Amino acid sequence: MMNQFPASFLWGASSSAFQIEGGWDEGGKGMTVADFNSFKLSDKQADTKVASDFYHHWKEDIDLMKELGLKAYRFSLSWARIIPDGDGEVNPEGIAFYNKVIDYLIEQGIRPLVTLYHFDLPYALVEKYNGWESRHTIDCYLHYCRTLFERIGMRCRYWLTFNEINAVRGYASCGTSSADDQTHYNAVHNMFLASAQAVKLGHEMMPGSQFGAMYALSEIYPATCKPEDMFRQMQCRRESLFFIDVMARGYYPSYTGDLFGRRGVTLHTEPGDDEILKSGTLDFVSFSYYRSCTVSTETKFNVIGGDQNPYLQSTPWGWPIDPLGLRYCMNEIYDRYQKPIFIVENGLGAIDEIEEDGTINDTYRINYLRDHLKAMIDAIVIDGVPCLGYTMWGCIDLVSLSTGEMKKRYGHIYVDMDDKGNGTCARRKKLSYDWMKEVIATNGESLW
Ligand code: BG6
Repeated sequence: MMNQFPASFLWGASSSAFQIEGGWDEGGKGMTVADFNSFKLSDKQADTKVASDFYHHWKEDIDLMKELGLKAYRFSLSWARIIPDGDGEVNPEGIAFYNKVIDYLIEQGIRPLVTLYHFDLPYALVEKYNGWESRHTIDCYLHYCRTLFERIGMRCRYWLTFNEINAVRGYASCGTSSADDQTHYNAVHNMFLASAQAVKLGHEMMPGSQFGAMYALSEIYPATCKPEDMFRQMQCRRESLFFIDVMARGYYPSYTGDLFGRRGVTLHTEPGDDEILKSGTLDFVSFSYYRSCTVSTETKFNVIGGDQNPYLQSTPWGWPIDPLGLRYCMNEIYDRYQKPIFIVENGLGAIDEIEEDGTINDTYRINYLRDHLKAMIDAIVIDGVPCLGYTMWGCIDLVSLSTGEMKKRYGHIYVDMDDKGNGTCARRKKLSYDWMKEVIATNGESLW
Protein backbone atom coordinates (compact mmCIF):
# COMPACT_ATOMS: atom_id res chain seq x y z
CA MET A 1 0.00 0.00 0.00
CA MET A 2 1.30 3.48 -0.86
CA ASN A 3 2.24 5.67 2.08
CA GLN A 4 0.86 9.17 2.09
CA PHE A 5 2.36 12.40 3.28
CA PRO A 6 0.50 13.13 6.53
CA ALA A 7 -1.81 16.14 6.71
CA SER A 8 -0.84 16.43 10.40
CA PHE A 9 2.86 16.90 9.56
CA LEU A 10 4.46 19.52 11.83
CA TRP A 11 6.23 22.07 9.64
CA GLY A 12 8.27 24.17 11.99
CA ALA A 13 11.34 26.11 13.00
CA SER A 14 13.94 25.62 15.66
CA SER A 15 16.26 27.67 17.91
CA SER A 16 18.05 27.60 21.23
CA ALA A 17 17.88 30.05 24.11
CA PHE A 18 21.48 31.21 24.19
CA GLN A 19 21.67 31.63 20.40
CA ILE A 20 18.50 33.69 19.98
CA GLU A 21 17.28 35.23 23.22
CA GLY A 22 19.83 37.79 24.39
CA GLY A 23 18.72 39.49 27.62
CA TRP A 24 21.39 37.35 29.24
CA ASP A 25 21.21 39.12 32.63
CA GLU A 26 17.65 40.44 32.42
CA GLY A 27 14.59 39.23 34.27
CA GLY A 28 16.63 37.63 37.05
CA LYS A 29 18.48 35.20 34.74
CA GLY A 30 21.72 33.63 35.99
CA MET A 31 24.85 33.12 33.89
CA THR A 32 25.11 29.97 31.82
CA VAL A 33 28.16 28.11 30.53
CA ALA A 34 27.20 29.35 27.05
CA ASP A 35 27.39 32.97 28.29
CA PHE A 36 30.68 32.22 30.01
CA ASN A 37 32.13 30.73 26.81
CA SER A 38 30.85 33.41 24.48
CA PHE A 39 32.21 36.27 26.59
CA LYS A 40 35.67 34.87 25.96
CA LEU A 41 35.26 35.07 22.16
CA SER A 42 37.31 37.52 20.12
CA ASP A 43 35.68 40.86 19.25
CA LYS A 44 35.09 39.53 15.74
CA GLN A 45 32.37 37.28 17.07
CA ALA A 46 28.87 37.85 18.36
CA ASP A 47 27.93 36.86 21.89
CA THR A 48 24.91 35.85 23.89
CA LYS A 49 24.36 39.26 25.53
CA VAL A 50 22.08 40.42 22.71
CA ALA A 51 22.08 37.49 20.22
CA SER A 52 18.94 38.06 18.07
CA ASP A 53 17.18 39.75 20.99
CA PHE A 54 14.21 37.38 20.94
CA TYR A 55 13.81 38.37 24.60
CA HIS A 56 12.40 41.69 23.41
CA HIS A 57 11.19 40.71 19.91
CA TRP A 58 9.33 37.49 20.77
CA LYS A 59 5.85 38.72 19.82
CA GLU A 60 6.97 40.13 16.47
CA ASP A 61 8.88 36.89 15.81
CA ILE A 62 5.90 34.68 16.59
CA ASP A 63 3.74 36.86 14.32
CA LEU A 64 6.24 36.25 11.52
CA MET A 65 6.16 32.51 12.24
CA LYS A 66 2.38 32.55 12.12
CA GLU A 67 2.39 34.38 8.78
CA LEU A 68 4.88 31.81 7.49
CA GLY A 69 2.34 29.13 8.39
CA LEU A 70 4.44 27.27 10.99
CA LYS A 71 2.69 24.51 12.89
CA ALA A 72 5.46 24.00 15.47
CA TYR A 73 8.26 25.96 17.07
CA ARG A 74 11.08 24.13 18.77
CA PHE A 75 13.01 26.24 21.27
CA SER A 76 15.00 25.61 24.40
CA LEU A 77 14.33 27.03 27.82
CA SER A 78 17.26 28.55 29.61
CA TRP A 79 17.63 26.62 32.85
CA ALA A 80 19.35 29.67 34.42
CA ARG A 81 16.35 31.86 33.56
CA ILE A 82 14.11 29.44 35.46
CA ILE A 83 16.50 28.63 38.32
CA PRO A 84 19.34 31.20 38.23
CA ASP A 85 21.85 29.24 40.33
CA GLY A 86 20.76 25.87 38.93
CA ASP A 87 19.48 24.28 42.12
CA GLY A 88 17.87 26.92 44.31
CA GLU A 89 14.84 29.19 44.12
CA VAL A 90 12.62 29.32 41.05
CA ASN A 91 12.69 32.73 39.32
CA PRO A 92 9.05 33.86 38.76
CA GLU A 93 10.08 36.30 36.02
CA GLY A 94 11.70 33.49 34.03
CA ILE A 95 8.57 31.36 34.29
CA ALA A 96 6.41 34.35 33.33
CA PHE A 97 8.54 35.03 30.23
CA TYR A 98 8.24 31.49 28.88
CA ASN A 99 4.55 31.29 29.80
CA LYS A 100 3.90 34.43 27.73
CA VAL A 101 5.77 32.93 24.78
CA ILE A 102 4.02 29.56 25.04
CA ASP A 103 0.56 31.08 25.46
CA TYR A 104 1.07 33.30 22.45
CA LEU A 105 2.39 30.43 20.31
CA ILE A 106 -0.67 28.36 21.16
CA GLU A 107 -2.99 31.29 20.44
CA GLN A 108 -1.40 31.48 16.98
CA GLY A 109 -1.90 27.75 16.39
CA ILE A 110 1.82 26.93 16.73
CA ARG A 111 2.71 23.94 18.87
CA PRO A 112 5.63 24.42 21.27
CA LEU A 113 8.31 21.72 21.21
CA VAL A 114 10.56 22.35 24.19
CA THR A 115 14.21 21.38 24.55
CA LEU A 116 15.05 21.19 28.24
CA TYR A 117 18.81 21.41 27.84
CA HIS A 118 20.60 22.93 24.84
CA PHE A 119 24.24 23.15 26.00
CA ASP A 120 23.54 26.01 28.48
CA LEU A 121 24.09 24.62 31.97
CA PRO A 122 23.78 27.26 34.72
CA TYR A 123 27.38 28.27 35.33
CA ALA A 124 26.87 28.02 39.10
CA LEU A 125 26.57 24.24 38.71
CA VAL A 126 30.03 24.07 37.17
CA GLU A 127 31.47 26.13 39.99
CA LYS A 128 29.73 24.13 42.72
CA TYR A 129 29.67 20.57 41.38
CA ASN A 130 31.79 20.37 38.21
CA GLY A 131 28.59 20.17 36.19
CA TRP A 132 27.47 16.74 35.03
CA GLU A 133 30.49 15.07 36.65
CA SER A 134 28.44 15.10 39.84
CA ARG A 135 25.38 12.97 40.43
CA HIS A 136 23.96 15.92 42.34
CA THR A 137 23.45 17.69 38.99
CA ILE A 138 20.91 14.96 38.13
CA ASP A 139 18.82 16.06 41.13
CA CYS A 140 19.17 19.71 40.08
CA TYR A 141 18.00 18.84 36.55
CA LEU A 142 15.01 16.92 37.89
CA HIS A 143 14.08 19.87 40.13
CA TYR A 144 14.19 22.07 36.99
CA CYS A 145 12.11 19.54 34.98
CA ARG A 146 9.52 19.11 37.72
CA THR A 147 9.13 22.89 37.91
CA LEU A 148 8.46 23.07 34.17
CA PHE A 149 6.13 20.08 34.06
CA GLU A 150 4.08 21.77 36.81
CA ARG A 151 4.13 25.30 35.40
CA ILE A 152 3.90 24.52 31.67
CA GLY A 153 2.41 21.04 31.66
CA MET A 154 0.44 19.67 28.72
CA ARG A 155 0.35 23.01 26.92
CA CYS A 156 3.49 21.44 25.53
CA ARG A 157 3.05 17.83 24.42
CA TYR A 158 6.50 17.24 22.88
CA TRP A 159 9.66 17.56 24.99
CA LEU A 160 13.34 16.91 24.30
CA THR A 161 15.46 16.09 27.33
CA PHE A 162 18.85 16.97 25.78
CA ASN A 163 20.07 18.63 22.60
CA GLU A 164 22.79 16.78 20.65
CA ILE A 165 23.76 14.74 23.67
CA ASN A 166 26.31 12.94 21.50
CA ALA A 167 28.05 16.28 20.83
CA VAL A 168 27.92 17.84 24.28
CA ARG A 169 31.44 18.73 25.45
CA GLY A 170 33.33 21.27 27.55
CA TYR A 171 31.56 23.01 30.45
CA ALA A 172 28.18 21.90 29.10
CA SER A 173 29.27 18.44 30.19
CA CYS A 174 32.07 18.62 32.76
CA GLY A 175 33.86 20.89 35.22
CA THR A 176 36.61 21.60 32.71
CA SER A 177 36.67 22.81 29.12
CA SER A 178 38.65 19.76 27.95
CA ALA A 179 37.72 16.66 29.92
CA ASP A 180 39.36 13.32 29.16
CA ASP A 181 37.16 10.50 27.89
CA GLN A 182 36.91 8.86 31.31
CA THR A 183 35.50 12.03 32.90
CA HIS A 184 33.35 12.81 29.88
CA TYR A 185 31.62 9.43 29.64
CA ASN A 186 30.92 9.39 33.37
CA ALA A 187 29.24 12.77 32.93
CA VAL A 188 27.33 11.36 29.95
CA HIS A 189 26.18 8.43 32.12
CA ASN A 190 24.76 10.97 34.57
CA MET A 191 22.94 12.68 31.69
CA PHE A 192 21.50 9.32 30.61
CA LEU A 193 20.20 8.79 34.14
CA ALA A 194 18.82 12.34 34.23
CA SER A 195 17.07 11.92 30.89
CA ALA A 196 15.47 8.58 31.83
CA GLN A 197 14.17 10.00 35.11
CA ALA A 198 12.86 13.12 33.39
CA VAL A 199 10.97 10.98 30.85
CA LYS A 200 9.46 8.88 33.64
CA LEU A 201 8.52 11.96 35.66
CA GLY A 202 7.08 13.69 32.60
CA HIS A 203 4.92 10.69 31.72
CA GLU A 204 3.65 10.51 35.29
CA MET A 205 2.92 14.22 35.64
CA MET A 206 1.63 14.75 32.07
CA PRO A 207 -0.08 11.60 30.78
CA GLY A 208 0.03 11.63 26.97
CA SER A 209 3.19 13.71 26.79
CA GLN A 210 5.84 12.55 24.29
CA PHE A 211 9.55 12.57 25.02
CA GLY A 212 12.53 12.49 22.72
CA ALA A 213 16.18 13.45 22.91
CA MET A 214 18.13 15.02 20.10
CA TYR A 215 21.25 13.71 18.36
CA ALA A 216 23.73 15.29 15.95
CA LEU A 217 23.69 12.98 12.93
CA SER A 218 25.44 13.04 9.63
CA GLU A 219 25.40 10.11 7.28
CA ILE A 220 28.81 8.44 7.26
CA TYR A 221 30.17 6.72 4.15
CA PRO A 222 33.26 4.56 3.91
CA ALA A 223 35.89 6.36 1.81
CA THR A 224 36.39 3.18 -0.27
CA CYS A 225 34.93 -0.32 -0.41
CA LYS A 226 38.05 -1.64 1.32
CA PRO A 227 36.74 -3.86 4.18
CA GLU A 228 38.87 -1.95 6.71
CA ASP A 229 37.24 1.37 5.68
CA MET A 230 33.80 -0.23 5.90
CA PHE A 231 34.56 -1.54 9.37
CA ARG A 232 35.83 1.89 10.44
CA GLN A 233 32.58 3.39 9.15
CA MET A 234 30.63 1.05 11.43
CA GLN A 235 32.76 1.97 14.43
CA CYS A 236 32.33 5.70 13.77
CA ARG A 237 28.57 5.26 13.30
CA ARG A 238 28.37 3.53 16.63
CA GLU A 239 30.05 6.49 18.36
CA SER A 240 26.85 8.45 17.70
CA LEU A 241 24.28 5.65 17.70
CA PHE A 242 25.61 4.56 21.10
CA PHE A 243 23.76 7.50 22.66
CA ILE A 244 20.47 6.69 20.94
CA ASP A 245 20.88 2.98 21.71
CA VAL A 246 21.09 3.66 25.45
CA MET A 247 18.29 6.22 25.57
CA ALA A 248 15.84 4.64 23.15
CA ARG A 249 16.35 1.03 24.28
CA GLY A 250 17.17 1.61 27.95
CA TYR A 251 20.43 -0.32 28.23
CA TYR A 252 24.05 -0.13 27.15
CA PRO A 253 24.63 -1.92 23.82
CA SER A 254 26.85 -4.99 23.54
CA TYR A 255 29.60 -3.02 21.72
CA THR A 256 30.04 -0.67 24.74
CA GLY A 257 33.05 -2.74 25.85
CA ASP A 258 34.79 -2.19 22.53
CA LEU A 259 33.94 1.54 22.45
CA PHE A 260 35.09 2.18 26.02
CA GLY A 261 38.06 -0.17 25.63
CA ARG A 262 39.43 1.85 22.71
CA ARG A 263 38.96 5.04 24.74
CA GLY A 264 40.27 3.71 28.04
CA VAL A 265 36.98 4.34 29.86
CA THR A 266 35.73 2.44 32.92
CA LEU A 267 32.24 3.60 33.75
CA HIS A 268 31.34 4.42 37.36
CA THR A 269 27.87 3.05 37.96
CA GLU A 270 25.77 2.48 41.06
CA PRO A 271 23.30 -0.28 41.95
CA GLY A 272 19.93 0.57 40.45
CA ASP A 273 21.30 2.45 37.42
CA ASP A 274 20.21 -0.29 34.99
CA GLU A 275 16.63 -0.09 36.26
CA ILE A 276 16.63 3.70 35.95
CA LEU A 277 17.77 3.53 32.32
CA LYS A 278 15.00 1.05 31.53
CA SER A 279 12.32 3.11 33.25
CA GLY A 280 12.43 6.14 30.93
CA THR A 281 13.03 5.23 27.31
CA LEU A 282 12.22 7.69 24.51
CA ASP A 283 8.88 7.87 22.71
CA PHE A 284 10.46 9.24 19.52
CA VAL A 285 13.95 9.86 18.17
CA SER A 286 14.89 13.31 16.95
CA PHE A 287 18.04 14.52 15.27
CA SER A 288 19.78 17.35 13.49
CA TYR A 289 21.04 16.73 9.97
CA TYR A 290 23.17 19.23 8.07
CA ARG A 291 25.73 17.19 6.19
CA SER A 292 27.36 13.83 5.59
CA CYS A 293 31.00 12.80 5.73
CA THR A 294 33.31 9.97 4.74
CA VAL A 295 35.72 8.00 6.90
CA SER A 296 38.66 5.71 6.33
CA THR A 297 41.05 4.01 8.71
CA GLU A 298 43.06 7.27 8.72
CA THR A 299 40.16 9.60 9.58
CA LYS A 300 39.91 11.57 12.80
CA PHE A 301 36.15 11.39 13.25
CA ASN A 302 34.36 13.80 15.57
CA VAL A 303 30.61 13.24 15.95
CA ILE A 304 29.47 14.59 12.56
CA GLY A 305 32.67 15.56 10.81
CA GLY A 306 35.01 13.28 8.89
CA ASP A 307 36.62 13.69 5.49
CA GLN A 308 35.26 15.49 2.43
CA ASN A 309 33.33 13.52 -0.18
CA PRO A 310 34.57 14.04 -3.78
CA TYR A 311 31.02 13.58 -5.10
CA LEU A 312 29.52 16.42 -3.05
CA GLN A 313 29.76 20.20 -2.97
CA SER A 314 30.23 21.99 0.33
CA THR A 315 28.81 25.06 2.08
CA PRO A 316 31.05 28.12 2.59
CA TRP A 317 31.90 26.56 5.96
CA GLY A 318 33.02 23.31 4.34
CA TRP A 319 29.99 21.18 5.27
CA PRO A 320 29.24 18.68 2.44
CA ILE A 321 25.70 19.13 1.07
CA ASP A 322 23.96 15.77 0.82
CA PRO A 323 20.13 15.60 0.67
CA LEU A 324 20.11 11.86 -0.04
CA GLY A 325 22.09 11.40 3.17
CA LEU A 326 19.05 12.72 5.05
CA ARG A 327 16.82 10.07 3.47
CA TYR A 328 19.45 7.47 4.33
CA CYS A 329 19.62 8.64 7.97
CA MET A 330 15.84 8.62 8.38
CA ASN A 331 15.66 5.04 7.09
CA GLU A 332 18.58 3.90 9.18
CA ILE A 333 17.19 5.36 12.40
CA TYR A 334 13.69 4.00 11.88
CA ASP A 335 15.00 0.55 10.91
CA ARG A 336 17.06 0.45 14.07
CA TYR A 337 14.59 1.77 16.67
CA GLN A 338 11.11 1.42 15.16
CA LYS A 339 10.10 4.66 16.87
CA PRO A 340 8.73 7.73 15.10
CA ILE A 341 11.36 10.27 14.17
CA PHE A 342 11.35 14.06 14.27
CA ILE A 343 13.85 16.09 12.23
CA VAL A 344 14.46 19.02 14.54
CA GLU A 345 17.35 20.80 12.81
CA ASN A 346 18.40 21.19 9.19
CA GLY A 347 19.37 24.19 7.12
CA LEU A 348 22.11 26.08 5.35
CA GLY A 349 24.53 28.43 7.10
CA ALA A 350 25.42 31.07 4.50
CA ILE A 351 26.42 34.71 4.08
CA ASP A 352 23.40 36.81 3.07
CA GLU A 353 23.78 40.16 1.31
CA ILE A 354 21.17 42.92 1.30
CA GLU A 355 20.67 44.24 -2.25
CA GLU A 356 20.30 47.95 -2.99
CA ASP A 357 16.54 47.56 -3.23
CA GLY A 358 16.50 45.96 0.23
CA THR A 359 15.85 42.38 -0.91
CA ILE A 360 17.84 39.35 0.20
CA ASN A 361 17.89 36.79 -2.57
CA ASP A 362 18.88 33.60 -0.78
CA THR A 363 18.30 31.23 -3.69
CA TYR A 364 21.14 29.01 -2.40
CA ARG A 365 19.10 28.42 0.77
CA ILE A 366 15.98 27.64 -1.26
CA ASN A 367 17.98 25.08 -3.30
CA TYR A 368 19.38 23.44 -0.16
CA LEU A 369 16.00 23.26 1.57
CA ARG A 370 14.12 22.11 -1.54
CA ASP A 371 16.48 19.19 -2.09
CA HIS A 372 16.46 18.15 1.57
CA LEU A 373 12.69 18.44 1.90
CA LYS A 374 12.18 16.32 -1.22
CA ALA A 375 14.50 13.68 0.20
CA MET A 376 12.61 13.80 3.50
CA ILE A 377 9.25 13.36 1.76
CA ASP A 378 10.65 10.45 -0.26
CA ALA A 379 11.69 8.79 3.00
CA ILE A 380 8.18 9.24 4.38
CA VAL A 381 6.10 8.46 1.30
CA ILE A 382 8.24 5.95 -0.59
CA ASP A 383 10.22 4.30 2.21
CA GLY A 384 7.45 4.46 4.81
CA VAL A 385 9.36 6.18 7.61
CA PRO A 386 6.98 7.69 10.20
CA CYS A 387 8.12 11.26 10.77
CA LEU A 388 6.29 13.65 13.09
CA GLY A 389 7.68 16.86 11.65
CA TYR A 390 10.53 19.02 10.44
CA THR A 391 11.74 22.11 12.29
CA MET A 392 14.35 23.90 10.19
CA TRP A 393 17.20 25.53 12.09
CA GLY A 394 16.92 29.23 12.58
CA CYS A 395 13.93 30.62 10.73
CA ILE A 396 15.10 33.81 12.43
CA ASP A 397 18.88 34.37 12.11
CA LEU A 398 20.81 33.55 15.26
CA VAL A 399 24.35 33.22 16.60
CA SER A 400 26.34 30.26 15.26
CA LEU A 401 27.25 27.58 17.77
CA SER A 402 30.51 26.42 16.22
CA THR A 403 31.95 29.79 15.16
CA GLY A 404 30.15 32.33 17.36
CA GLU A 405 29.46 34.33 14.20
CA MET A 406 26.30 36.17 13.29
CA LYS A 407 27.27 36.19 9.62
CA LYS A 408 26.72 32.42 9.37
CA ARG A 409 22.99 32.83 8.86
CA TYR A 410 20.30 30.13 8.60
CA GLY A 411 17.03 32.04 8.72
CA HIS A 412 14.20 33.01 6.41
CA ILE A 413 14.19 36.21 8.45
CA TYR A 414 17.27 38.42 8.50
CA VAL A 415 18.29 40.03 11.78
CA ASP A 416 20.19 43.32 11.60
CA MET A 417 23.13 42.40 13.80
CA ASP A 418 26.78 41.87 12.92
CA ASP A 419 29.62 39.84 14.38
CA LYS A 420 30.74 42.72 16.57
CA GLY A 421 27.36 43.28 18.17
CA ASN A 422 26.42 46.30 15.98
CA GLY A 423 22.88 46.48 14.63
CA THR A 424 19.29 47.32 15.47
CA CYS A 425 18.02 43.71 15.50
CA ALA A 426 15.33 44.79 13.02
CA ARG A 427 13.80 41.85 11.15
CA ARG A 428 13.57 41.59 7.33
CA LYS A 429 12.11 38.75 5.24
CA LYS A 430 14.41 37.00 2.78
CA LEU A 431 13.33 35.51 -0.55
CA SER A 432 13.19 32.06 1.06
CA TYR A 433 10.47 33.27 3.45
CA ASP A 434 7.78 33.41 0.75
CA TRP A 435 9.09 30.24 -0.85
CA MET A 436 8.78 28.33 2.43
CA LYS A 437 5.35 29.82 3.06
CA GLU A 438 4.17 28.22 -0.19
CA VAL A 439 5.77 24.87 0.71
CA ILE A 440 3.92 24.80 4.03
CA ALA A 441 0.62 26.05 2.59
CA THR A 442 0.65 23.25 0.01
CA ASN A 443 1.88 20.64 2.54
CA GLY A 444 4.97 20.11 0.39
CA GLU A 445 3.33 19.86 -3.03
CA SER A 446 4.92 23.08 -4.33
CA LEU A 447 8.33 21.40 -4.03
CA TRP A 448 7.53 19.55 -7.23
C1 BG6 B 1 23.51 22.05 15.95
C2 BG6 B 1 23.18 22.74 17.24
O1 BG6 B 1 24.73 21.43 16.16
O2 BG6 B 1 23.83 22.78 14.82
C3 BG6 B 1 22.84 24.22 17.09
O3 BG6 B 1 22.16 22.08 17.96
C4 BG6 B 1 23.74 24.82 16.04
O4 BG6 B 1 22.96 24.81 18.35
C5 BG6 B 1 23.48 24.14 14.71
O5 BG6 B 1 23.62 26.20 15.93
C6 BG6 B 1 24.24 24.71 13.52
O6 BG6 B 1 25.59 24.79 13.81
P1 BG6 B 1 26.40 26.14 13.65
O7 BG6 B 1 27.72 25.86 14.22
O8 BG6 B 1 26.44 26.44 12.20
O9 BG6 B 1 25.65 27.19 14.43
